[in-house]
Amino acid sequence: MNQYDICLIGFGNVGKAFAELLEKKADHLLKEHSVGFRITAIATGSHGNAINLQGITATAAIAAYQHGDLASLSTESIEDDMVGFIRASRADFLVETSPVDYQTGQPAIMHIQSALSAGMHAVSANKGPVVHAYQFLTELAEKNRRRFLFESAVMDGAPVFSVFREALPGAKILGFEGILNSCTNLLIEKMESGASFDDAVAYAQSIGIAETDPSGDIDGWDAAIKVAALVTVLMGVPLKPQQVDRTGIRAIGPDMIEQAKVAGKRWKLVCKAELNDGKISASVQPEMVPSTSPLFAVNGTSSLVVFRTDVLPGLGILESNPGPDTTAYGLLADMLNILKTG
Ligand SMILES: NC(=O)c1ccc[n+]([C@@H]2O[C@H](COP(=O)([O-])OP(=O)(O)OC[C@H]3O[C@@H](n4cnc5c(N)ncnc54)[C@H](OP(=O)(O)O)[C@@H]3O)[C@@H](O)[C@H]2O)c1
Repeated sequence: MNQYDICLIGFGNVGKAFAELLEKKADHLLKEHSVGFRITAIATGSHGNAINLQGITATAAIAAYQHGDLASLSTESIEDDMVGFIRASRADFLVETSPVDYQTGQPAIMHIQSALSAGMHAVSANKGPVVHAYQFLTELAEKNRRRFLFESAVMDGAPVFSVFREALPGAKILGFEGILNSCTNLLIEKMESGASFDDAVAYAQSIGIAETDPSGDIDGWDAAIKVAALVTVLMGVPLKPQQVDRTGIRAIGPDMIEQAKVAGKRWKLVCKAELNDGKISASVQPEMVPSTSPLFAVNGTSSLVVFRTDVLPGLGILESNPGPDTTAYGLLADMLNILKTG
């Protein structure tokens, strides 16, 4: 059996789900893949950092986090700066789950750069490094004979990047259309059943779908950064979220919801990208979609993307009921794929 150590950056919804998933899957990973994973370092924003080369269990980490200080689990002296912390972890994998910065991608880019430079593979649920430093980090990984993967950055655990990387060699994407933000899809659905915008937001916050400040979702930034990530990686054209033509859902009110119902349509926050004459046009806009559109039936927090390629005219990927658990699986899938392909 091969044993691999993990330095986990961020211990929020996804970080905790990832630690629990590793334990839940431990027997299967040992039997089917002859691998074992151990978390040996965890860093947070305000709940302390820990390095313990014997391994940190999910239960111990969650308990220490709840008491406000992961440092109680540390057996090593902790470096003040994150570059020193990541290097001191001596892990095989860095798993990046800190909050996204839509404008710059930092500090996650710096975390991944430090890990790759120290000889670790890096996998990221954070979209920031994908759109703001994809080429730089991929080249750095190659130079160090390591990998940088990020399956869960778009559509959580559903395979999107790996489908084109592994299963569709030679396919050229001409465009795509989809619903990539769960929160706004749920908010619109709540408004369709009579809730006010504010009540819909309060509901989404109560079930952990919307953040305390939900503007990243409502104003279309989360959708825009996902469009930028798909265009950058799968269409080979570097695109920043700021370059996506973006409108959020704030203007959708009861009258508009009613107007769509009468017309047999539904409002959706539609993500699009098209390649025309070598140029990309990308947008995130609310649209009234007819019942004939595959987007019409995407309910609740589900997501859908339909690609148009030069070999497959329409290829859809639907993910139902995503959450931190499915995102955690995307991270694990990246690690197993790295070990499989080297
Ligand atoms: N939630 C999902 O299902 C989902 C799906 C796809 C992608 N993602 C992406 O995954 C990432 C994590 O999401 P989440 O829902 O787990 O977020 P979260 O609950 O807000 O957790 C973020 C974690 O990062 C820590 N953190 C903040 N600043 C940090 C820093 N500078 N260095 C190290 N750690 C830092 C936080 O520390 P404290 O705990 O001390 O605040 C917290 O533990 C985000 O980039 C998100 O966009 C999430």
